[in-house]
Amino acid sequence: MPQRPSPAELLAAWSDVDRYLEERLGASDPALEAALLASREAGLPEIQVSPLQGKLLHLLARAIGARRILEIGTLGGYSTIWLARALPSGGRLVTLEREPKHAEVARRNVARAGLAERVEVRVGAALESLEALRREGAPAFDLVFVDADKTEYPEYVAQAARISRAGALLVVDNVVRRGDVAEPTSADPSVRGVQRMLERLGQDPRIAATALQTVGVKGHDGFLLAQLEPAPPAPP
Ligand code: SAH
Ligand code: DHB
Ligand code: MG
Repeated sequence: MPQRPSPAELLAAWSDVDRYLEERLGASDPALEAALLASREAGLPEIQVSPLQGKLLHLLARAIGARRILEIGTLGGYSTIWLARALPSGGRLVTLEREPKHAEVARRNVARAGLAERVEVRVGAALESLEALRREGAPAFDLVFVDADKTEYPEYVAQAARISRAGALLVVDNVVRRGDVAEPTSADPSVRGVQRMLERLGQDPRIAATALQTVGVKGHDGFLLAQLEPAPPAPP
């Protein structure tokens, strides 16, 4: 009987394929590399999206012609740079981050990438910033990337939906977590948060959602893609 590959062997094989694809498809450049290096040197956790996933976010934003993007969970601004680069001139990205140190690193990385004018990094607990955005009557968002505290995912999605336009896209990171999401008895608060979000989404007629599992440099995980109900056609 052939031996089953160990988790380390699987990760090595998946990472080889990610690197093969990155090299051929062009999923990095000096500004992105500089952001990763500065984030590492500042001691930030290395949990940003993979290069290929960053490029997917970029292509989604471009494909829908997003002019207003909301990101929940900035870290060092790696995914921020991918997303902000998709904006047309005059477009704007607001990104929410609780840790002042992360926000500071992100601001520097975003500025180095030449995107400071299009990006606002808001420091504070995401739920408070979301409430502030709603109170301020911020113009509606076209795309939201959710990637902060997994225990609060259901609330992020609910609040993001309130401040997004009809037909807006929602991308939610880390919804599979090595498969733990499918463990109904999991006690992990992050897993519980994702599960609660999925239960709610499945019952919400205003949002259509799917999710895909991924393997690669970040192991086995997955992301959710959802669309708010498009506006009904205008009367003739
Ligand atoms: N989107 C980033 C990675 C984000 S990691 C990228 O792919 O490049 C998650 C980030 O969310 C961390 O920086 C963490 O500090 C932040 N975070 C966690 N809980 C938060 C909260 N309640 N409000 C705002 N940010 C939070
Ligand atoms: C973690 C958070 C993330 O957003 C991610 O993509 C990977 C890991 C974490 O908190 O461990
Ligand atoms: Mg993530």
